[in-house]
Amino acid sequence: MKNAIAALLLVFAGAACNSDTSVKMLAKCEHDLGAADAQIAQAQAAQAAAERNLTATQQRLTEAEARVASLERARPSEAPAPATATAAVEASPPPPAPTKAAPPPAKAVKRGEHALRFGLALPARRERWIKDQLTMLGEAKKRGIEFLVQVSEDDAARQETQCDDLISQGIDVLILAPVNGQAAGSIVAKAVKAGVKVISYERLVMASPDDYVYVGFDGLFAGGLQGDFLARRAPKGNYLVVTGPQTDNNAKLFREGALKYIQPLVNKGDVKVVLDEFAEKWKPEEGQRLCEKALAQAGGTIAAAYVATDGLAGGCIDALEAHGLAGKVPVTGQDAELAAAVRIVGGTQSMTIFKDTRLLAIKAVEVAEQLARKKPVDTRGKAIQNGVRKVPAVLLTGKLVTRANLDQVVIDSGYLKREAVYRQ
Ligand code: BGC
Repeated sequence: MKNAIAALLLVFAGAACNSDTSVKMLAKCEHDLGAADAQIAQAQAAQAAAERNLTATQQRLTEAEARVASLERARPSEAPAPATATAAVEASPPPPAPTKAAPPPAKAVKRGEHALRFGLALPARRERWIKDQLTMLGEAKKRGIEFLVQVSEDDAARQETQCDDLISQGIDVLILAPVNGQAAGSIVAKAVKAGVKVISYERLVMASPDDYVYVGFDGLFAGGLQGDFLARRAPKGNYLVVTGPQTDNNAKLFREGALKYIQPLVNKGDVKVVLDEFAEKWKPEEGQRLCEKALAQAGGTIAAAYVATDGLAGGCIDALEAHGLAGKVPVTGQDAELAAAVRIVGGTQSMTIFKDTRLLAIKAVEVAEQLARKKPVDTRGKAIQNGVRKVPAVLLTGKLVTRANLDQVVIDSGYLKREAVYRQ
């Protein structure tokens, strides 16, 4: 509405300007046009703020619905769960700590003859994981499967408690994206002991001798796409290499994949890696801190920034911005997050990797159902080493996204909304 009024003002002001030739009038018209422009800008800003509010309200609504569903499930006098499947999200605030009372034995919860119940344990509430979750919930609903979700905010101990809770609720399959892949073997062991099948989702559970299936993107391939891109874009100069925590096997895979392309340039003497570090967490602040550190070490001369994810890239670009280098240094990322797409359009981030979480999430629910129904899972002969054995793996591959193909790959596929990417 405000937009429309401002546009009308602009038309009137324009018409008057065209009909009057005196210098004084011209100046007044220009002033009026300027004022109308300012009004339009104001109206657009108000509209953008309203859109952001709407998104936040929708998110709160989903969370509130989830809490109601969760409380209803926990009601002591609760009748046996209906045969028709329900999908429920357990969202913030965190669930109360488990009491000392013995949890109901696994499988004790009654449900319809054919109904399945899956548990999903996610590491964080970042954009990509929210997308994974929403797709899984939709897919589970379609398949008539009940779905319980826990998010642990990067806290490994909390994730273990949440998984204990899921297991005690009689889930058939646990879909686990571990916070600490090195330590999550104990979760798998408990699940397997309780007769629960396990999918290690997007992050590999390491060093576990138990049976589980990996469903995730090929991390080595993703790192390779990033490294190859950067090596072509900046074949000489100082590089920084920033990836995620070592407790996530992906951080190592991304780095290994990227170095396949960067190391030959180092060996030739064309590239010098001034900083090569694993971030403590996958957080933008960590990306910023490490990029600041690299800039200090290189005396402000950086030719390329290998940064593993869009989250870390956001922080790194803030650091570059502070040194007047944003848009001048190629920066990598992955996940095709909205903020990264906006940065790619704006020219401060050079690429991302589109890992279509919709495909991955649907695949995970499909595999979970196969496991629950004791049907074979087709991994096309692929397996991934967890340190003590090879884990059967369903591997998907990501796609390189630059300014040139962003619209086609990320927007036309419906992953991100055009209005959101081009919002300014
Ligand atoms: C995933 C990335 C994600 C990162 C941080 C990694 O394990 O592969 O897609 O950005 O975790 O959440």
